[in-house]
Amino acid sequence: MNSKRHENIVIPATIQGYTIHDLLLQAETRLQPLSQTPRLDAEILLAHCLNQSRSYLHAWSDLCPDSHHVEQFHRLLQRRIQEEPIAYLIGYQNFWSLQLRVTPDTLIPRPETELLVEQALERLPAEQPAEILDMGTGSGAIALAIASERPHARLLATDNCQKALEVATYNAARLGINQVRFLQSHWYQQLPAQPFDMIVSNPPYIDQDDDHLHALRHEPLAALCPVGNRPDDGLSALDEIIHHAPDRLKSGGWLILEHGFAQQEAVMDRCREAGLVEISGHTDLAQLPRIVCARKS
Ligand SMILES: C[S@@+](CC[C@H](N)C(=O)[O-])C[C@H]1O[C@@H](n2cnc3c(N)ncnc32)[C@H](O)[C@@H]1O
Repeated sequence: MNSKRHENIVIPATIQGYTIHDLLLQAETRLQPLSQTPRLDAEILLAHCLNQSRSYLHAWSDLCPDSHHVEQFHRLLQRRIQEEPIAYLIGYQNFWSLQLRVTPDTLIPRPETELLVEQALERLPAEQPAEILDMGTGSGAIALAIASERPHARLLATDNCQKALEVATYNAARLGINQVRFLQSHWYQQLPAQPFDMIVSNPPYIDQDDDHLHALRHEPLAALCPVGNRPDDGLSALDEIIHHAPDRLKSGGWLILEHGFAQQEAVMDRCREAGLVEISGHTDLAQLPRIVCARKS
């Protein structure tokens, strides 16, 4: 088949002749070696380009999309082949019941972080006011999910990355959630003196030498690895958060943390050393230990 090169993308010469069915089949084949969900990826990208739902693709599989839609699809497909995550290609990720904008300045919120939200909600009575701090908020995922379920809670969501805070602020406004304030802060350093009923955080916890980092190379390194990380553990941000938590929690207040699957024992030990009580560890849907809850007596 004749084809021309355009911005490193091979665009078939007979681009307009392809049906939705053809496009999906070709894309699925190209994505097979690198994605565990090649068909799903192809459908999400094509539906995004056509501004339609995936069910539209099934219902109208014999239609030939316009050439500019096909070109856009091929561009996104090429980026997906470079293993760029789908969420960055389409600009959003579903988390909890929310659709969140994500950019390369924000971590893509993960399903396992929903376990942190569940643990937080279990400890937040529905009708009571509460002051909650979310540190390292990224896209705002945790703070906005809690806010969406607890209308009487007031949240302070912080990050040291201004661009991430802009995304989180945009998400709050788009979702009509106005009980979350955003503040740039290096962990506790720029925070007001007020104590909190709950502190939640999914901080960077991957060791900088971890082999998994290559697969995560499109996401911001500062969201994955703590700065000044000692070479062997990835625990320095968790250390800092736990160490100062008792000074920032009200009596009876909760600290709820996400951590790496091999870090639970260390995180629980640090909570004990910080004088926290009622310390419990929780596993995610894959039965991996991922969350620690602890309380100030
Ligand atoms: C693992 S991501 C979590 C993002 C979001 N909370 C989530 O669960 O999807 C960690 C976040 O911590 C932020 N962060 C890294 N170092 C920080 C620091 N020293 N102070 C405050 N935030 C920091 C990063 O910018 C990033 O947004």
